[in-house]
Amino acid sequence: MKPFEQRGSAVLKRLPVNAVAAEIGVLRGMMSEYLLRNHPTLKLFMVDSWQTAENQPEHYRATGDVHANHTDPARVASHRREAEGRAKNFPGRAIIMPVLSADAAQTIEDGSLDLVFIDADHSYEGVKADLAAWVPKVKAGGWIGGHDYRNPAPEFDFSGVDRAVNEWASAWGVVVETDLNFTWFARI
Ligand SMILES: C[S@@+](CC[C@H](N)C(=O)[O-])C[C@H]1O[C@@H](n2cnc3c(N)ncnc32)[C@H](O)[C@@H]1O
Repeated sequence: MKPFEQRGSAVLKRLPVNAVAAEIGVLRGMMSEYLLRNHPTLKLFMVDSWQTAENQPEHYRATGDVHANHTDPARVASHRREAEGRAKNFPGRAIIMPVLSADAAQTIEDGSLDLVFIDADHSYEGVKADLAAWVPKVKAGGWIGGHDYRNPAPEFDFSGVDRAVNEWASAWGVVVETDLNFTWFARI
């Protein structure tokens, strides 16, 4: 299984029939497509700002994440086009939201989502903000989760993901489960 399929399978096993979910940070839409292909009734909000480095916050760039540090606008535009192309194969089920995570969250009704998967700004500040924006969108009994929890990859500093998730989980008194490819999940 490829890494995006591992993440996708960890998400899929937590989705009910007729699920409504959001993926925060979709890049080229690889995981989104995997989810939509393998869950025939899923409706998925695909949120990505597709910005170059000069428009990314310093704390995100400092993680060393390649997606925070793209300097070529054509490259970012091609990521967006690829994701949009994939979404077109699932009319009415894949909803592209080409905006900042916080702005997208404001347009979604509270308590309406079965699962939110956070895979965008991997800094402490970014994940903390995404948790604050998206947790209220999850329905009771639904899931919040994300990527790169306890990821020791030496080329990135993803320690902020662990810190933000652990702080949030202990404040909320919820248990964090880990799954394939450094994914984490907690039931709300
Ligand atoms: C690691 S990639 C996502 C990978 C994707 N989830 C997958 O599994 O194929 C991170 C993406 O998050 C997006 N991103 C980062 N910060 C964001 C923000 N504040 N709002 C929306 N998207 C953001 C970036 O543009 C990038 O495309």
